[in-house]
Amino acid sequence: MEVFMHQDVKKILVSAEAIEQRCRELGKQISDDYRKDGEVPVLVALLNGSVPFLAKLITYIDLDIEYDFMDVKSYEGTESIGDVRILKDLDRSIKGASILLVEDIVDTGRTLHEVSKLLLNKGAGKVKIVSLLDKPSRRVIAIQPDYTGFVIPNEFVIGFGLDFNEKYRNLPYVGVLKDECYL
Ligand code: IMP
Repeated sequence: MEVFMHQDVKKILVSAEAIEQRCRELGKQISDDYRKDGEVPVLVALLNGSVPFLAKLITYIDLDIEYDFMDVKSYEGTESIGDVRILKDLDRSIKGASILLVEDIVDTGRTLHEVSKLLLNKGAGKVKIVSLLDKPSRRVIAIQPDYTGFVIPNEFVIGFGLDFNEKYRNLPYVGVLKDECYL
């Protein structure tokens, strides 16, 4: 039997229209802020989850930006001492660059904390963060995105880049899966 992905969704938390509107607002705010500071950011997007967000957001940033990708994996284990393994590194030098890290969701905060440190160690002049979603109730490390799309409750979400077992990334909205999909 064929299974279609929309049938697996229990509820939609953030609609496609809301994402579009918020990306427009964020793009304008980012453009205004960097213009005020006389800087042009290099966007560093974390694979794979941030791809749809990056793709939409950049169409609303009115600056001569460049973007690049990194893929990292958090080490499993201790709660407080995080570290990341780099699966794909940047293709360019970022010495002195003003970096805007693009992420799908901030959960415990470990990934962004470690990646920010790593980018500063590579010589980045400044690192700011834009995240589509923020789940502050799950935070382990005190890290706050400079730009946030939506603050969401403590629920596991899928869609618009976010996956469950690598699926549902192509949903045009952010939603919650039906309980039976986790079985
Ligand atoms: P953190 O290091 O705990 O902040 O984890 C961030 C990463 O965990 C994100 O980039 C996602 O890949 C993953 N993640 C956290 N919460 C969710 C969720 O609700 N759905 C899908 N992936 C999630």
